[in-house]
Amino acid sequence: MPVELTVGGERFTLRDEGRGPPVLLVHGFPLDHAMWAAQIDALAPRHRVIAPDLRGFGGSVVTEGTATMGRMADDLAALLDELGVRERLVYAGFSMGGYVGWPFAARHGRRLRGLVALDTRAVADTPAAAAGRLAQAERLEREGSAVAADAMLPRLLAPDRAERDPALAHAVRAIMLRQDPRGLAAAQRGMAERGDARASLARLGVPALVICGEHDAISTREELRALADAVPNGRFVEVRDAGHLSPMESPGAVSSAMLDFMAWLE
Ligand code: MLT
Repeated sequence: MPVELTVGGERFTLRDEGRGPPVLLVHGFPLDHAMWAAQIDALAPRHRVIAPDLRGFGGSVVTEGTATMGRMADDLAALLDELGVRERLVYAGFSMGGYVGWPFAARHGRRLRGLVALDTRAVADTPAAAAGRLAQAERLEREGSAVAADAMLPRLLAPDRAERDPALAHAVRAIMLRQDPRGLAAAQRGMAERGDARASLARLGVPALVICGEHDAISTREELRALADAVPNGRFVEVRDAGHLSPMESPGAVSSAMLDFMAWLE
């Protein structure tokens, strides 16, 4: 069950399940902690699994304007303080959750034991991509969260997935539609202004696992392989028959890869 926590006077919602070496699961855009349901079930027998809603998402505080990736990283560190998590943990970030992972590693690296980068990118946006995000942010504020659901759903899933598994497509769309459009707009502006993290990868002081859906159309296999090669102790796992949203499309394969990595870290 999700719980609510007040941090610095602001409300955050999260799942906090299980006991053992901690792992933080950080969702993507325009989603919330619900995308991790299968991983929470699979990891909680051996780990303390903390899956928060980032600022602007799910049941957490909504910021208008811009929510930067750095601010979200600092939110997570404050949340971990509030939860009393002092041990080093594994940070697992999916897509936007990975973008938040780069400033988290830079600012709060002493908290890390390992990093899992799922279907994410280290490069910054091109000017055209950033402009597209700013335009979408305006539309989100005017027209609501269906703008993001319509734009993202077809890009998140493997080809034919929606036809083969309409229940999954429906569930993903429902998560998207329940997001506050002001929070989505703020995150889009934050993503638009994020920097290029590639130079920092060589300085990552902990092992990393990079997971890539075979048909990921947003963060490609080539880009994710390069990311795994750029970190000093990086591993690469490709998930068959998944698109960008590998944790929901191939939950068993993603959970197994994470469990193997975390067992190896211990
Ligand atoms: C996500 O899944 O979080 C998004 O694809 C990130 C993005 O829009 O770059």
